[in-house]
Amino acid sequence: MLLLSLTKTMTSTDLSGKCLLLGICGSIAAYKSAYLVRELRRRGAEVRVIMTHSAEAFITRLSLQGLSGHPVESQQFDGDSSDGMKHIALTRWADVIVVAPATANFIAKLANGMADDLLSTVCIASDIPLIIAPAMNRLMWEHPLVQANVQKLIALDMMIWGPECGEQACGESGSGRMIEPEAIAQKITTLLGAKPLDSTRVVITAGPTHEMLDPVRYLSNHSSGRMGFALAQAAAEAGAEVSLIAGPARLPTPHAVQRYDVLSAEQMLQAVLAQIDGADIFIGCAAVSDYRPAQVHPQKLKRDSETLSLELVRNPDILATVGKRHPRPFLVGFAAETEALVVNAKQKLLAKNLDMIVANPVGVGQAYGFDSVDNQVSIYWRGGEMNLGPDSKIKIGEAVIKQIIARYHLKTSDETIRTA
Ligand code: PMT
Repeated sequence: MLLLSLTKTMTSTDLSGKCLLLGICGSIAAYKSAYLVRELRRRGAEVRVIMTHSAEAFITRLSLQGLSGHPVESQQFDGDSSDGMKHIALTRWADVIVVAPATANFIAKLANGMADDLLSTVCIASDIPLIIAPAMNRLMWEHPLVQANVQKLIALDMMIWGPECGEQACGESGSGRMIEPEAIAQKITTLLGAKPLDSTRVVITAGPTHEMLDPVRYLSNHSSGRMGFALAQAAAEAGAEVSLIAGPARLPTPHAVQRYDVLSAEQMLQAVLAQIDGADIFIGCAAVSDYRPAQVHPQKLKRDSETLSLELVRNPDILATVGKRHPRPFLVGFAAETEALVVNAKQKLLAKNLDMIVANPVGVGQAYGFDSVDNQVSIYWRGGEMNLGPDSKIKIGEAVIKQIIARYHLKTSDETIRTA
């Protein structure tokens, strides 16, 4: 039992027996596709490449033929296949399609159901997992039209990996770099392999809460939801069935995550209680308002007095409520502190009966924490600790989930031994 649990936590590098169709579009990042083919083959995958016409301006067919060991496909109608249905044959052959790099033009075609070349036709003629790794100038990526198209693909359950933030080939700096080949290969390996959180249910809270004062005003904080959404994405990629209870956050729902939108702490508690039965892991990442106005005024408050006193009442503590359940899930809390980070985090670990706590410094002058793209955290558990970052919340989310997996499997195997 112990052995089984521990082998489940190991990261696999094995793609043997898997068939991958790699689509390459016309972007300067196309050179990275050569590394991607090599990395996928090193992991044992069979790779076939489809290039768009414009991709051929950036990288040669011969390089990709040499690296993949197969002729590169690009012509939709060349009479090569006996029945003239090359797109169908290719999708039947593949376990997964990855388009890397994917341009704004390709994303627009796919989002609008256009199939005017072999790559777009193959993507539309398939029901296998489709991964898109965008690469483009940061202004193109941020453009509302591109973002609207990306949202359409996400709504259709397609996986958008990246782009990353950093220096771009055009000399600008921002979000638009294709994620690195090694990272794509690792994520594909995780996607297709046995996963460490298979058969595990995870409930995560994220974002702020809004505590209404009157119909137009509320008490809240600066939480964007990014950290909690990153955890949800990483947990789902690790194989978990994820319920994400989200306070008001303008973020797309991560792939394969079940999202429940709430407004107030009370609604968040009710949504958590509706999902918590049978959950294996609970992660409280939401910045829940500790207090709410004692009275919610039915009409907008008038400014007719010099001062106004508000009476506040304490909100339920969601994390502590879950911690009191018997049996309770593996419990992970967050601590956002403006002072005495370590002392306060360790005190919350004990007071709320947690298995782990993730502490981040927040407040004026802090580059990380609330509403930032990056974060820097320390994790504490009974008998251990580790520091992570600074790094993107996506990467911190993956590393935190990795640590949760290790400690969760250790705890469940200990319990199995004790009860055996
Ligand atoms: O959303 P982002 O912009 O990405 O920012 C991320 C973050 C800074 C919000 C996140 O990393 C974080 O620290 N979340 C917890 C914030 C917080 O409310 O910390 P706390 O120390 O006040 O609460 C301690 C723990 O109790 C937290 O797990 C919290 O979710 C939980 N709690 C608190 C109050 C309450 N009424 N119910 C709770 O469950």
